[in-house]
Amino acid sequence: MSSGAAAASEGEPAASGRPVVPELPVVPELPVVPELPVVPELPVVSGLAVAPGLFVTLEGGDGAGKTTQAALLEEWATGQGRRVVRTREPGGTDVGVLIRDIVLHHRGDVSARAEALLYAADRAHHVATVVRPALHRGDVVIQDRYLDSSVAYQGAGRVLGPGEVRDLSLWATEGLLPDLTVLLDLDPAAARARRDADDKPFDRLEAEQDDFHARVRGEFLSLAAAEPERFLVLDATAPAEEIAAAVRTRVAALLDARTS
Ligand SMILES: Nc1ncnc2c1ncn2[C@@H]1O[C@H](COP(=O)(O)OP(=O)(O)OP(=O)(O)O)[C@@H](O)[C@H]1O
Ligand SMILES: [Mg+2]
Repeated sequence: MSSGAAAASEGEPAASGRPVVPELPVVPELPVVPELPVVPELPVVSGLAVAPGLFVTLEGGDGAGKTTQAALLEEWATGQGRRVVRTREPGGTDVGVLIRDIVLHHRGDVSARAEALLYAADRAHHVATVVRPALHRGDVVIQDRYLDSSVAYQGAGRVLGPGEVRDLSLWATEGLLPDLTVLLDLDPAAARARRDADDKPFDRLEAEQDDFHARVRGEFLSLAAAEPERFLVLDATAPAEEIAAAVRTRVAALLDARTS
């Protein structure tokens, strides 16, 4: 150390005008940490593994027919003597209704991470207080949108990675995945025509451009390709009754497998 530096006290500028960095104490050599055993990848817990109920989610772009199919499936399952909980995200609980209002109707910017956390907060509360209790009772849970929507919409926005968003949701729900996810696949132009015909006011996400909706569709299809055993992908332009029949066939098979 030069005599000029030694004369200056801590933090004060030396003659050169630069602050003097005090000499750092010598760090003793750290002990070597023994190599950790490799932890095997943990299986993701699905509704099937944790409870006797059946967890069915409906996914797809806006106007794809999720609400229509949820209603038809509920009618059928109830007719089969099943107890059904029909619900949705965001907004399936009192807390969720407040969160839904922020994420869909807040005027002004919501940062991407804040938005992802809001959806995850809604989901955490919904799964803990509505979905899991229903699955434990043995009910059929029919849910409009779940974690695949978060992954597809955030993934399409390209702000957060799809993997990060999925991990966040799995943390929020303690790893709950649906037994069946019905993806209603519809091209964005057809979806827009349906929404225009419906004459409903657009929410924040619906008002996005067609290329955004095209990316969302692409993300949904890649999620389905990655987990073919969980997804049932159906052409949403088919007549509603035809789609409903395909959904019923799959749900009936899952319910049979559960009781046999
Ligand atoms: N298979 C179908 N063929 C033609 N039109 C359909 C079909 N299914 C639903 N529709 C119509 O499309 C419109 C949107 O349907 P629905 O509300 O069920 O979609 P959604 O996916 O729930 O939409 P959102 O994302 O806005 O909630 C409605 O007018 C509905 O009657
Ligand atoms: Mg709907």
